Amino acid sequence: MSQARQQLAEQLAEAVFQALHEDLNRQERVLLVVSGGSTPVPFFKALAAKSLPWERIDVTLADERWVDEQSSDSNAKLVREHLLQGEAAAATFIPLTCRAATPEEGVDEVAKQVESLAWPASVVILGMGGDGHTASLFPDSPELTLALATDEPLVAVRTPSQSQPRITFSADRLHQARRHFLHITGDDKRAVLAKALNGDDVRQLPIRAFLTCPLAIYWAP
Ligand code: 6PG
Repeated sequence: MSQARQQLAEQLAEAVFQALHEDLNRQERVLLVVSGGSTPVPFFKALAAKSLPWERIDVTLADERWVDEQSSDSNAKLVREHLLQGEAAAATFIPLTCRAATPEEGVDEVAKQVESLAWPASVVILGMGGDGHTASLFPDSPELTLALATDEPLVAVRTPSQSQPRITFSADRLHQARRHFLHITGDDKRAVLAKALNGDDVRQLPIRAFLTCPLAIYWAP
């Protein structure tokens, strides 16, 4: 782990801590939506170390791979192992999978699971892949078209074909948040992020769908 990425994770954890704390001063419960992948792990650990009324915090994922929670590909596994530790284990975590064999079969059940959460989210944290995808909204995909247009909360995803089937919140649902943070690492993503910030097409760079929100970008090489 580079020092720059560790410092970035700690800075983001402090900003998210302040945001949750602020909202907890005015409402009973708050919702934190996090992303998976490799970038968030040091952030999860830094946030888990913060002293918060975790029993009043709901946590869910922006997207998930449709795999068993024991799989190393599971985002829920990452959250349980690195965020929901210590005092943070008292948070209410709602995963984005269920017993259905496919995301298409499970999407309605998962939608019921997440309806009880404290929407609008206090914080949504998104990552970005080197192709400009965010959550599981992949460039030029049929699911992206649906996810940008639907007011349904969740979309089943089969693209890109080489990755596992996935499920993702729609753009409409991910927009239902007071604050958005982008947490991005990798020198290779600097050019993609710059392109997205300079107004490229949302179909080519789905992250663009969230650059209209008030948001903070946390990036390190
Ligand atoms: C996922 C994530 C995904 C992630 C990007 C960046 O399920 O993979 O939600 O959208 O944020 O792929 O991943 P890295 O931070 O590991 O590069």
